[in-house]
Amino acid sequence: MRIGNEDYTRYVWIGLGLTLFIIAALSFYWLNESARLAQAAQNFTAERERRGRAIYADQCVICHGPNGEGGTGPALNNRGLLKNTLDEVLFSVIRSGVPGTQMPAWSVDFGGPLTDENIHDVVASIRAWEPTAPDIEPAPFTPDPARGAALFASTCAVCHGQNGRGTNAAPALNNPARLQPLDDEWYRVTIRNGRPAKGMPTWGSVLSPEQIEDIIALLRQWQP
Ligand code: HEC
Ligand code: HEC
Repeated sequence: MRIGNEDYTRYVWIGLGLTLFIIAALSFYWLNESARLAQAAQNFTAERERRGRAIYADQCVICHGPNGEGGTGPALNNRGLLKNTLDEVLFSVIRSGVPGTQMPAWSVDFGGPLTDENIHDVVASIRAWEPTAPDIEPAPFTPDPARGAALFASTCAVCHGQNGRGTNAAPALNNPARLQPLDDEWYRVTIRNGRPAKGMPTWGSVLSPEQIEDIIALLRQWQP
């Protein structure tokens, strides 16, 4: 390339060479940078899981087993559960517990010992089981009068009295003269639908079918 008397060809080549060098250097840096970020994210997750395992060992093993295989509480190291449950759902169940069951509320917001950060850690440690989690068939459901009693005390006793002996607000439920002739299906439907016009709430939208079965098992204990 000539401008006036000067030949600039050499400079053009040098400029082109430098540009290519800078592009190459930048992409090299950029590629390394994303690898470095991925590594940092991995370290962060590993650190979360490590902290979560410690919390799990302290607080959860007693009911959910050392490796999440279950005990008093259900198995958490369970492919079906982990596949179908988002982290946010685990987080919120652990935060607030499951009322009327033995699963306590863990969040400091509900009087528990764990901060949200702690709970994120535990969720990460549970999630880490997923790749190797076994498929566990849900245990067949058996109604349990003890679970029913806990539920009754927290949900029904306010109107039906302790042990179903009745109050001014609602009739006794521990009355053999009623329990004897009325079958489980009658109780199921009555509890599920309630009698809203007469002050008996509709429980079908509040309690699970299993919880209603637990309560019926309790009522049957009062029958003899
Ligand atoms: C005193 C016993 C007990 C302790 C301690 C306990 N759990 Fe639970 N947990 C239960 C029971 C019982 C259930 C089932 C509740 C129900 O019937 O829905 C449960 C349910 C759960 C569930 C929902 C499982 C599902 O199938 O939907 C998660 C998640 C869970 N627990 C996590 C934890 C974590 C994490 C800890 C420790 C911070 C913990 N639990 C400590 C008893 C316990
Ligand atoms: C807000 C008060 C209230 C609460 C809470 C309540 N009930 Fe009732 N329940 C009533 C009233 C009032 C009646 C009577 C309705 C009528 O006069 O027909 C009744 C009736 C019933 C009956 C029919 C009894 C019979 O012999 O005809 C059953 C069964 C029953 N309740 C079960 C339950 C259970 C189980 C719970 C808890 C899950 C519960 N109730 C919670 C107010 C309540």
